[in-house]
Amino acid sequence: MNVVVTGGAGFIGAHIVDALAERGNLVVAVDDESGGDFQNVYASSVLRRRLDCGNFAAMKELYLKHGIDTVVHCAANAREGTSAFQPDAVTRRNMGAYAATLSAAIAAGVKNVVLFSSMAVYGDQKPPFEEATPPKPVDVYGLNKASMEAMTAQLSGLHGINYVVIRPHNVFGERQSLSDKHRNVVAIFMNRIMRGEPLFIYGDGEQKRAFSYIADSLPCFIAATERCARLHNEIINVGSTEHLTVNQLADAVCEEMGVPSYPRDHLPERPLEVKTAFPTYTKSEKLLDYAESVGWKEGIRRMAAWAKAQGPQKWRNSDPLEIITEKTPKPWIMELE
Ligand SMILES: NC(=O)c1ccc[n+]([C@@H]2O[C@H](COP(=O)([O-])OP(=O)(O)OC[C@H]3O[C@@H](n4cnc5c(N)ncnc54)[C@H](O)[C@@H]3O)[C@@H](O)[C@H]2O)c1
Repeated sequence: MNVVVTGGAGFIGAHIVDALAERGNLVVAVDDESGGDFQNVYASSVLRRRLDCGNFAAMKELYLKHGIDTVVHCAANAREGTSAFQPDAVTRRNMGAYAATLSAAIAAGVKNVVLFSSMAVYGDQKPPFEEATPPKPVDVYGLNKASMEAMTAQLSGLHGINYVVIRPHNVFGERQSLSDKHRNVVAIFMNRIMRGEPLFIYGDGEQKRAFSYIADSLPCFIAATERCARLHNEIINVGSTEHLTVNQLADAVCEEMGVPSYPRDHLPERPLEVKTAFPTYTKSEKLLDYAESVGWKEGIRRMAAWAKAQGPQKWRNSDPLEIITEKTPKPWIMELE
């Protein structure tokens, strides 16, 4: 395959480009490094292009130049929690950038599209979330992902493209940004511990999620890419079969970081946060051979070892919040001080 991976310098994207390159494909990683870094990409054969995938003309030229047959779209501002406070940035980097990526792909004759959506499309419906359940997002990020899915479905028949939608959930692991204050609770906990800052937990910490280690999900991401034409039109949840609370997660992270009784502050509930969110996984087992070889607990251990090797990181933010009011959670405002 000749593949473009947008967001290829990000956490999931970098794992995908390396795995696809190892399997002998021609791989072009496209990223504007707003949230990722090309240092995340290890394989020397991967072509690195620092580019906004929302640039239609540049993307079309890139597809034609490299004879691209498959696009894996990972690029995003994936900060679900802050999306009510930065709807402009989140919409430009999700729906906006994807419209250009997809439109240029169709115009250049690309046949296969793998779209990274999110469990956020389910909103606060009753878990476990099944793929056939109509989306009912409760935040701007989820609305964007649901619209991106719908746009793909609308254009695929008319223009003759194959697509697979992946709905990952709460993925963590090595190469995840440790410096993003707004997203990925595992990485935030680890960096706060290394920086000597107390952990903060929104609400009572009894929110339930299916935290998923990257090495367990990655084979499904690759299988979806390789089987895109065959799996045409499928929407597939991908991630852990187990779920746990944020309090249990905090215990495990503190233990693996070597500070079992590390202090924790409880803050008011985060606006629009869904309390219990975990999906079904049988479709991923059937269509993508999902099998958990590592599991979340060992995954935390491995990520903690990696994080300690990286050391404490400065907080950085490429997309500042647009709306600061009394509703904005304090830790997000403090970053501006
Ligand atoms: N990590 C998770 O738990 C999770 C869960 C559900 C869905 N997802 C989805 O999976 C995908 C990958 O997530 P991730 O965790 O690797 O995020 P990430 O932030 O690590 O990677 C996203 C990458 O996209 C890049 N990017 C953003 N806007 C761009 C643009 N306009 N042009 C080019 N590059 C751009 C960023 O620089 C970053 O490297 C995203 O679409 C996300 O919504 C992730």
